[in-house]
Amino acid sequence: MVIRPAAGVLSTTQVRTGIGRAATVPGRGGDLPPDGHHNLVVDRSAASRATATTAEHPATASHTDRTVIRAALAAANDDRIVIDLDDIATQYSALLQEFPGIVIRFAVKSCPVDEVLTTLARQGSDFDATSPQKIAQVFGEGVPPNRIHYGNTIKSDVQIAEAYRLGIRDFATDSLEDAEALAVHAPGSRVFCRLATSGDEAHWELSRKFDRTAAETGLIPSGVSQHVESQQMPVEAWHTAFDTLAGVLSGLNAHGITVDHVNLGGGLPALRCLDHHGKPLNPPLREMFSAIRESMSRLGRVSRAPLRFLMEPGRHLVADHDAIRAHVARLFSRCHTEGHRVSWLYLSCGKFNGLYEMDRIQDRLEYPSYDGDEYLPAVVAGPTSDSDDAFDSSGDGLVRVPRTAASGDPVWIFSCGAYTTAYTTRGLNGFNPLPYTCVGGPSGAAHGI
Ligand SMILES: Cc1ncc(COP(=O)(O)O)c(C=O)c1O
Repeated sequence: MVIRPAAGVLSTTQVRTGIGRAATVPGRGGDLPPDGHHNLVVDRSAASRATATTAEHPATASHTDRTVIRAALAAANDDRIVIDLDDIATQYSALLQEFPGIVIRFAVKSCPVDEVLTTLARQGSDFDATSPQKIAQVFGEGVPPNRIHYGNTIKSDVQIAEAYRLGIRDFATDSLEDAEALAVHAPGSRVFCRLATSGDEAHWELSRKFDRTAAETGLIPSGVSQHVESQQMPVEAWHTAFDTLAGVLSGLNAHGITVDHVNLGGGLPALRCLDHHGKPLNPPLREMFSAIRESMSRLGRVSRAPLRFLMEPGRHLVADHDAIRAHVARLFSRCHTEGHRVSWLYLSCGKFNGLYEMDRIQDRLEYPSYDGDEYLPAVVAGPTSDSDDAFDSSGDGLVRVPRTAASGDPVWIFSCGAYTTAYTTRGLNGFNPLPYTCVGGPSGAAHGI
C-alpha cells in the first residue's frame, strides 16, 4: 500500500509547483553547506513498503488508483504536468524488491525534475547523468558525487573536466579516444566500458580497451555496461544481451582482466504503452525479471571476481506516474482531400510541449467536465500545426472524443510517458513547456532535508 495523503487534500508540503526549479522545499532552506557536499538522508525503510502484486505484474506501482494524481488534476485550473512522487518511490522499491542488493542508478534524463531526484535519492537511488548540467542538478539536490555516474559516452574535454571538477570519478566510455580524454581530464577515475552489441567484436574491442585503459591511462577499469533499447519488450532481447556479457566476461578472464561490476543499463519497460498499431503492449515483466535474475547468476558463475550489479532504469520508474492536464483548443471537422469529413480535436498541448510520446499513450484521454455519452472518432492533435504534432491516426487510430467538446474543456492524459519534461521545445509556435506539479512525496521536515 502506498502511503498517501487523504484524497483531494494536497498540503503545501505535498504539492510543489514550478518550471525547472521547485519552490522552497520545507526544511532545507539555507541550511546546506556552501560547498554543496550535503548528503541526503536516505529513507531505506521506504524500500520495504508493501506494493501491489498481480498475476501479470510483479510488485509495481502502476496499478494504483491514481486518487492523488486525480485530485491534483481536478485542482489545476491551468495546463500542467502532474507527477506522483509516491508512485515513483513505490516503483523504485518494487524494482529493488525484485533485485535485492542491486544498485539502481536512476537515468536522470528520463525525468530531470528536482523533486523526483530528491524522492529517489531518499529511497537510496544512485544517478546516471548524461552531462555536467545534469550532474550539477543532481548534486544540487544534495546527492554526493560518489552516487552519480557520468553515463554518457559522448563527451568533450571540457565536459569531462567540468564533471571531474564537480567531483565525479565514475564514467562510462566506449572508445579509446574517450578513455584517453578521461585519463587526461579525469585522472584516476573508474570507467565502465559500454559494450558493442555483437559478442565477438565487443569482446575483442573491450579487452583492447581495458588493456589500454589499465596499462596506459591510469584509469581504473570498473566494469562493463550494456543498454538494451528503451521500452525493451521481448525477454529474448535480455537473453541476447546477457549472452554478450557472458562472452565478454570470459574473454576478459582469458586476458587476465578482472572486473567487478556489471551495469545492466536501462530499457525496462513502462507498463501502459501502446505498440505502433495502437495495441496495449502488456510487457511480460515477471518473465523478464526472472530471466534477468537467472542471467545475473550465470554471469556470477562466469566471472572470476564476485560481481556487483547495477541498473539504470528511467522509463520503468517514471513513465506511468505522470499525467497532463490540458484543455480543448477546438473540435471541428474538415474535408480531407479524399472528399470525406474527418473530426479533429486540437489540444492545448502536444508533441512539442509535454506529449512527446503521444503515439504511445494507452490511457488516452479523459474529459472530466463531460457527463454525456455521445462520442465521435477524431484525429487528436497538438496546437503547433506541425504535421508531427498529432496522435497517430493511421489504421483504427482515431480517438473517441465527446461530440460536444468545447474550447476550454479540461482534458486529462494519464501515463504520459518518460522524458515528458525533457522532450519539450522552449516555445515552438509560442507554446511553452508545461509547468509541473508534484504530488505526494515526503513532508520535508519528516525526512530531515
Ligand atoms: C546508457 C543508458 N542507460 C539508461 C537509459 C535509460 O533508458 P530507459 O529510460 O529505457 O530505462 C538510457 C536511455 O537511452 C541509456 O542510454
